[in-house]
Amino acid sequence: MCGIVGYLGQKESLPILVNGLRRLEYRGYDSAGVAILDKGIIKKVKSVGKIDNLAEKLSALNGCASGGKDNKMSGTAGIAHTRWATHGGVTEENAHPHTDCSGKIVLAHNGIIENYRELKIELGETHKYTSQTDSEVLAHLIEHYYKGDLRQAVQSALRRVRGTYGLVVMHADHPDMIIAARLGSPLVVGVGDGEFFIGSDATPMLAYTKKVVFLEDGEIAEITLAGMQTFNLRNQNVIKKVEEIDWDEAQAELQGFPHFMLKEIFDQPVVFKDAVRGRVDQEEGTAHLGGLNMSEAQMREINRVILIACGTASYAAMVGKYAFERLAGIPTEVDVGSEFRYRDPIVDNHTLVFAISQSGETADTLAAVREAKRKGAFVRGIVNVVGSTIARETDGGTYIHAGPELAVASSKAYINMVAVLLLYALQFGRSRRLSLATGQRILTALGEISEKMKIILAQSEKIKKLAEKYKNYQNFLYLGRGINYPVALEGSHKLKEISYIHSEAYPAGEMKHGVNALLAPDFPVIGIMTKNQLYEKMSSSIEEVRARKSPVILIVSEGDIKAQELADEIIYVPETMELLEPLLNIIPLQLFAYHTAVLLGRDVDRPRNLAKSVTVE
Ligand code: AGP
Repeated sequence: MCGIVGYLGQKESLPILVNGLRRLEYRGYDSAGVAILDKGIIKKVKSVGKIDNLAEKLSALNGCASGGKDNKMSGTAGIAHTRWATHGGVTEENAHPHTDCSGKIVLAHNGIIENYRELKIELGETHKYTSQTDSEVLAHLIEHYYKGDLRQAVQSALRRVRGTYGLVVMHADHPDMIIAARLGSPLVVGVGDGEFFIGSDATPMLAYTKKVVFLEDGEIAEITLAGMQTFNLRNQNVIKKVEEIDWDEAQAELQGFPHFMLKEIFDQPVVFKDAVRGRVDQEEGTAHLGGLNMSEAQMREINRVILIACGTASYAAMVGKYAFERLAGIPTEVDVGSEFRYRDPIVDNHTLVFAISQSGETADTLAAVREAKRKGAFVRGIVNVVGSTIARETDGGTYIHAGPELAVASSKAYINMVAVLLLYALQFGRSRRLSLATGQRILTALGEISEKMKIILAQSEKIKKLAEKYKNYQNFLYLGRGINYPVALEGSHKLKEISYIHSEAYPAGEMKHGVNALLAPDFPVIGIMTKNQLYEKMSSSIEEVRARKSPVILIVSEGDIKAQELADEIIYVPETMELLEPLLNIIPLQLFAYHTAVLLGRDVDRPRNLAKSVTVE
């Protein structure tokens, strides 16, 4: 949570910083602030609420509507921060950047300083604090150690810290320098021509450079106009590789859509192809995911797969479980990161663990990765953000190639997680028991998915009308069976997180064991009843729902006229192989959640109390 941006170069830093914050707003949006080093003076502006509030304040200041010439923000070095509050309420004082007593040291921090109270006591009463945050203590700790060398002061301070940080620091007496450090919170340095960009991820720098350096835990970078040097906390020099990222600036733009979520839903037919391209072999009916980094012999030795993820990624993982068991015949479990790490899981060197994460930074998933590695499992990542911590800490894996996903509610990342899991299941299946013919049929069906997605997306306006009709209900129940049960879970998850309407999801067969008690005319049911092996079972459950007078909305296969008798509302989706249904059936549910949330006036891309990347436990 929280986003950090920094700039050092020849350009006016303010627009770069503010635009960078907009890119990172998904990481936190309680408050924001910026600090610029202007002719040896540090100037700060902070604001509660969205980046727009900060931008308005800045333009008023720079337009001289308030304050005079001296208050103008101008300079070629600066840092900025967008906050998701942990310690200290949402106030301007608690917004970053924070300064020390002298006002000469300024920093922005992402993470938690666990021992901040002890450090505060140790620093004594001579230090005056202006916020309730743990982060401000760092500024004073650096002040305490500062004897003219900023990097050394930061290193000394960080050696005293327990907790996590992504950190950028400037000092008024070092106008051409930014110190950046990371431990547990990501930080990327973009390398331009005589200029450097810093970000919690690469999106703030996409417009300027594709060359990046990913800082590792325990590393500290001294960035000056002359170049960048990286050290560890023991002050040893670390040689860093400059990497090239393939994300596009345009991918992080709205491109005419009113919200990132809608854009990302409509991106799905294209990015789905990116997840599959170059990874399949139609002739052999299999997939080749090179990042698996396992020999054929090692693959054959695997007798258990564990899929670890949180939230939407965990629902994609549940689809993966069906695929692994059906195609490869390998017993597969799904565990949410926060549970796996604390339950002393039984894992050995015949276990293959996949950590699935859009951001690659989710703290619980990451902790689970470390636990599984400690226990000797093969641990691989299925990750979207290139260079993210999970991508680097796993011993291989696959990028899902969904491109930047900026809406807090995940859509296209889910699709591509499912796609990559299907490919892995196919690859394992073909190296074991799966027939060539079945492998080829799956690949042919996968090749048709993108066009079928477009057919569903074309129904967006129809689904909007449905949302208009149902938006004022207080509760929804999502039902699915088999491979569509995780789809029901994900559909319900989408509705909750962006519309704030209560919803639950159940495997339809479970209804009679308790949930039927909820059914009533004010409790609509959304059922996923496409033509598969559980169609008849699902249809019986829906009959029961109707008998209890709940309004029924059904997702059914094209041409299923009979289903009309069971439903108040119908959404048709093209038919595909059962295993691939989740790639299609989720789309109407994404659109329903989206339109409902918009009609209710919710902040769709930045729902309350959430952040996209959950880097705290
Ligand atoms: C998705 O809509 C949610 N915002 C959330 O559940 C998310 O999927 C979860 O926090 C996991 O994130 P990750 O994929 O970045 O690990």
